Amino acid sequence: MQKIVEVLPDSVKLIDRALEVVLSKMQEAIAQRGLCTIALAGGGTPKPLYEKLALQDLPWEKLHVFWGDERCVPPDHPDSNQRMARQAWLDNVPIPAANIHPMSTDAADPSVDADKHEAELQAFFNSSAGEFPSFDIILLGIGDDGHTASLFPHTEALQVRDRLVTVGNKDGQPRITFTAPLINHARAVIFIVAGIGKRPALAQIFAPVADDFVYPARLIQPQAELWWLLDQTAGGELGGTGGA
Ligand code: 6PG
Repeated sequence: MQKIVEVLPDSVKLIDRALEVVLSKMQEAIAQRGLCTIALAGGGTPKPLYEKLALQDLPWEKLHVFWGDERCVPPDHPDSNQRMARQAWLDNVPIPAANIHPMSTDAADPSVDADKHEAELQAFFNSSAGEFPSFDIILLGIGDDGHTASLFPHTEALQVRDRLVTVGNKDGQPRITFTAPLINHARAVIFIVAGIGKRPALAQIFAPVADDFVYPARLIQPQAELWWLLDQTAGGELGGTGGA
């Protein structure tokens, strides 16, 4: 694994750097394989990045967009990660509708939605049961509690090792989420983290020893590239390792 940690002076420069890295990975994937698969993070941090991506001139037909997790709400609900990314980015560019692959969230039982998306991923990547496909890019954030995607502390989702997609749980609220092994098979995992509130969790995530089940972002140890892009308020005590 190649781990790159960069601490940027402020959140504006963090998003500018995240855009640079994402565009570079997109171009690399398209040059090497003719397409790029990217899974988006939810929450608030990546929204300005998605707004900047909407201003790019990209080969949209070669880009396939997924989400690393989704709240169990309709796609037009204010909490929907799909809604946020569509409003900030995807509704504003000529990307083919078939290239957008949201997690369905309309089943009464969230495990039905998780199974459906698992099947959709296996079909898209032509992968068989037990095989983990490799996304070109997976974007992630972390919560103040050290969760990532919808892999929350002390939840069963953290122990799922034989599936691509499972049901996460935030304070009793179900979510659909990529599993840690699926994330770890990505060619590039890019964490984008800003704000002083993330500092205590980052200290535990970066500590030589801590409990992965208390700080689930520790489970993300991809075989390929792991990028931590942090603003000064979040990562000021960590110090960067510089870019690749
Ligand atoms: C979600 C995200 C989640 C997010 C973190 C950070 O569905 O909310 O996938 O993992 O990345 O909670 O959220 P902020 O960027 O809003 O701090």
